[in-house]
Amino acid sequence: MSHAENPAGTRRDFLYYATAGAGAVATGAAVWPLVNQMNPSADTRALASIYVDVSGVQVGTQLTVKWRGKPVFIRRRSPDEIEAARAVAVTDLIDQHAENENKPDADAKDENRTMDAEGEWLVMIGVCTHLGCVPIGNGSGDFGGWFCPCHGSHYDTAGRIRKGPAPRNLEVPLTQFTDESKTTILLG
Ligand code: FES
Repeated sequence: MSHAENPAGTRRDFLYYATAGAGAVATGAAVWPLVNQMNPSADTRALASIYVDVSGVQVGTQLTVKWRGKPVFIRRRSPDEIEAARAVAVTDLIDQHAENENKPDADAKDENRTMDAEGEWLVMIGVCTHLGCVPIGNGSGDFGGWFCPCHGSHYDTAGRIRKGPAPRNLEVPLTQFTDESKTTILLG
């Protein structure tokens, strides 16, 4: 009898530990995503991220997309626009902060505003930092960038406020290219 009970007891023990062991192993692989999904803010953030195909955007033009209820300007800058933006000293700027979510502590030099090191791609929330109008693009205003007609704010070719009542540079949201050839941008 004891000979028959022992294997059963051993088997129960084995199953118990095996289950506990599987649970422990799963912690790293499965529990975090589950917790993450139950976090409403994380879930909302994930849903609010979008991919934008920018393969058709020509140099010197801008694509505007709507994202989280706001316009987003995706500009592929010309060499002249890049040069103009890079010629400006940070000390000459009204807002000397990059206002770039990708580089939270950076200053407002042009290189800290653009997605790529070459400075061709500039992505910004298209909302004037004064009272929220949508600035006009395509070389508008006294600095060849964007102009907000509501109260006369002029932004340069890096989207930095240069003249008028707006207090801050146009905001650069979280962005990244999803491929080497820079055909798709992930916003958020
Ligand atoms: S809202 Fe743009 S200048 Fe006032």
